[in-house]
Amino acid sequence: MNPTLADKIARAPKAELHIHIEGSLEPELIFALAKRNGVQLAYDSIDALRAAYAFTDLQSFLDIYYAGASVLLHEQDFYDMTMAYVERALADHVTHTEIFFDPQTHTERGVPIETVVAGIERALADGEKRGLTSKLILCFLRHLSEDDALATFDEAQPLFDKYAHRLIGVGLDSSERGHPPSKFERVFAKARERGLKLVAHAGEEGPPSYVYEALDLLKVDRVDHGVRSIEDAALVARLADSRIALTVCPLSNIKLCVFDDMAKHTLKDLLDQGVAVMINSDDPAYFGGYVNANYFAIVDALKLTDHEAYTLLRNSLEASFVTEQERAAMIARLDTYWKQ
Ligand code: HPA
Ligand code: ZN
Repeated sequence: MNPTLADKIARAPKAELHIHIEGSLEPELIFALAKRNGVQLAYDSIDALRAAYAFTDLQSFLDIYYAGASVLLHEQDFYDMTMAYVERALADHVTHTEIFFDPQTHTERGVPIETVVAGIERALADGEKRGLTSKLILCFLRHLSEDDALATFDEAQPLFDKYAHRLIGVGLDSSERGHPPSKFERVFAKARERGLKLVAHAGEEGPPSYVYEALDLLKVDRVDHGVRSIEDAALVARLADSRIALTVCPLSNIKLCVFDDMAKHTLKDLLDQGVAVMINSDDPAYFGGYVNANYFAIVDALKLTDHEAYTLLRNSLEASFVTEQERAAMIARLDTYWKQ
């Protein structure tokens, strides 16, 4: 890629809207926390763990991702993990981030949901003092039952009050195939009644019908991944018309074999057809790079222009869950930067 464009993208103010905080846990920190907490890992060295990061599909990744998260026990652990991500985000000139977390991964191991949120929140508050604004989105694990999700939602009620400034939405992640959005219609209806923002992973490995379900049954405000929407022309037209954004994660898509080559990624087709796509890192510690690395990889492989790179950056701001005033300020800042 043209080094001038890479540098311009690297320093551009940007939002990240698809990052699982547990997926930012680097092998070094996994080992440090395992030692601190006396947790036994199935790998005897950092290199051995990293060598296991050769995935064939989403499930092969999730098995290792949940094992990595098993070292998180105390509030300070969640703080340390989140602070490490905040540092990386600031280095990549992310000015606003919307972070997913998976409470069921931790409550299953006896860690109270309040411990999880308190640690993440303390780091995000510290990040805010350094110029990174943020929101938090609670994700339900779709391989578990809807009753489990409903119980988690009930348990989280006091947190939606206490952390109302931060905890603004719910999402849906984990094993997609065989767990369609329709399975979670009731819990999403409850979240909607509470005025929360709604997102769901759909069309990563699952078919376009899962994206329709996310839109029509869950009534999501954004779709996470959604790259398989390209298989259905009517769906692409609908996404473009409604400007419902797709939070695309290029390095993730390659690592999880959604596309076998970055040059075959469908992001440019979606962009050309007016879909509000932008770039995110998903699980950066596992997929080989934070948000800027994702921009570089896709802009290079698809030979995107200066204007297309600008559109991706701008879409990240357009799709953020912020006030109109905040959005206007973020866009003005990007525009001033991009023109100079
Ligand atoms: N897809 C589904 N669930 C996930 C992912 C993903 O890419 N990352 C973490 N949980
Ligand atoms: Zn994801």
